Amino acid sequence: MFGLLLSSKIRFMESNNPENRWLSATQEYVRQEFGQEGSGHDWWHIHRVHQMAVRLWKAEGGDRFIIEMAALLHDLDDWKLCSSIEQQKASQWLTKLQISPNKQNQILEIIEQVSFKGAGTPNIARSKEAQIVQDADRLDAIGAIGIARSFAYGGNKNRLIYHPESKPEMHTDFSSYQKSKGPTINHFYEKLLLLKDQMNTSTARKIAENRHRFMELFLAQFFNEWDGKK
Ligand code: NI
Repeated sequence: MFGLLLSSKIRFMESNNPENRWLSATQEYVRQEFGQEGSGHDWWHIHRVHQMAVRLWKAEGGDRFIIEMAALLHDLDDWKLCSSIEQQKASQWLTKLQISPNKQNQILEIIEQVSFKGAGTPNIARSKEAQIVQDADRLDAIGAIGIARSFAYGGNKNRLIYHPESKPEMHTDFSSYQKSKGPTINHFYEKLLLLKDQMNTSTARKIAENRHRFMELFLAQFFNEWDGKK
């Protein structure tokens, strides 16, 4: 494992290919920016999304560099707080690396499509690259990792695990979801179990089906244990 990490690092460092050097520098930058974060939105989320995006690219194609860069930078900015593109860390970073304006635009467009959560606005990924990054991000919200992240996030927001009298509610926008005090189990019915049908690519859909089944198993076991049946 360590040898593998080291050799990929050397591949980046010694590479004459500027794209590999940019990716390596970006990985380091993002890792430092995220550091330790307890709500499930830490560096390792970025790492997993990056890894999954590469896996999806292998099956689906597209521009690998654009996909990798967008995956690494996709959660760096809170778009609700950025009034202009120039204020964004992602944009400033890409300019610092002297990446061509054309490529910068492609990367920023993906980040905007993947992370923007305006009131009632569906996130539509237009390019193949955007679809892949969005799928990779959504896959990290489901399955065993999705379960772990949900409860980490819920705990961070002081939410109950479950309350039998609190029914799931369908939030029409992200801010109403963020304000909601509903227990974490409700989040499965409000969002996580719906994600499998929102995948863009067929490769992601297959992975999602497997992760979806795991969440259903988890929920069945959870309620059996809740009622003392198992
Ligand atoms: Ni993300």
